[in-house]
Amino acid sequence: MRNGDFATRLIAWHGGHGRHDLPWQNTRDPYRIWLSEIMLQQTQVDTVIPYYARFLARFPDVASLAAAPVDDVLALWSGLGYYARARNLHKAAQAVVAQHGGEFPRSAAEIAELPGIGRSTAAAIAAFAFGERAAILDGNVKRVLCRVFGIDGFPGERAVEQRLWALAEDLLPHTEIGTYIQAQMDLGATLCTRGKPACGRCPMTPICVALREECVGELPAARPKKAVPQRHARVAVIVAGGEVLLERRPPTGIWGGLLALPEIPADEADAARWVEARYGLAARAARPLPVLNHTFTHFRLEMTPVLVEVERRQTLAADDDHRWLARGALADAGLPTPVRRILADLAAAPGETPQRALPW
Ligand code: ADE
Repeated sequence: MRNGDFATRLIAWHGGHGRHDLPWQNTRDPYRIWLSEIMLQQTQVDTVIPYYARFLARFPDVASLAAAPVDDVLALWSGLGYYARARNLHKAAQAVVAQHGGEFPRSAAEIAELPGIGRSTAAAIAAFAFGERAAILDGNVKRVLCRVFGIDGFPGERAVEQRLWALAEDLLPHTEIGTYIQAQMDLGATLCTRGKPACGRCPMTPICVALREECVGELPAARPKKAVPQRHARVAVIVAGGEVLLERRPPTGIWGGLLALPEIPADEADAARWVEARYGLAARAARPLPVLNHTFTHFRLEMTPVLVEVERRQTLAADDDHRWLARGALADAGLPTPVRRILADLAAAPGETPQRALPW
């Protein structure tokens, strides 16, 4: 495929199927175009339309906007959300008055210097208002380019984004730039949508790499999942006389302040010895129980429970930070899920009656 095919197809499609009568079209007033582009960031066309009309009725040009108190601007924005957009709009209007003599700057590069206007929005304004050959690359365009040209990799990643910018520049036609830019937006918003794209009606069908390779649903690639750190912990299941010892966790960190199974320090090889030393309980035996994995928001924890049976006649006195829990009280104890699972598994070892098989 020649790159030129992309623009030719897009412009031809827009003639019959694009949007032509949105309130910010059919004007070359950069102020009106700018306002629409800012309102349309993160907001749907249908929502924007009434706000746009009210805003222009109150502030018909950049001078009236610059002269208004910011609270009046915010009041007209009320309900559109992302209020930084309104504050920046107001600041930018004041910059146009102060630095450009009230004339909206005419190049994408100068427009991009104004508060709240990024590279893509500046290009859209310059293309629509002044016919500048400037490439846009918003979320919709990224999606279209990733699919039509089969570009893999997460578009939020710098290298992928740079490649997309270079491609977007390469694709620019030499005529009808305003139509081309609007058509790009319309294709992404109406056919080449994120879910359920309408490939059957798309003008790119004969040239679309993703369609040919049957990976439309996989492009653009999703943000890579962060590797979740894996942690390990050994916990002591100290049992005596049908009860298990719970200890309150430190106030910060996982399960802060909750009763849980005591955590055996990582450098302690001998669990039975550690229990004796720490709790003054004579351990009869120690054996590892099945490992249990638990996923937290930011890490995975592999817990190895170690069963430590202590002398029945010896028990540590219960206090606020230590409690002996009877098996029957397990369900109501409000324990962290993995702790409850370890104890529940222990109580119901397969093939044996728990009472006989297990010391609690
Ligand atoms: N979204 C951003 N800019 C737009 C425009 N000019 N028309 C329709 N939707 C848009």
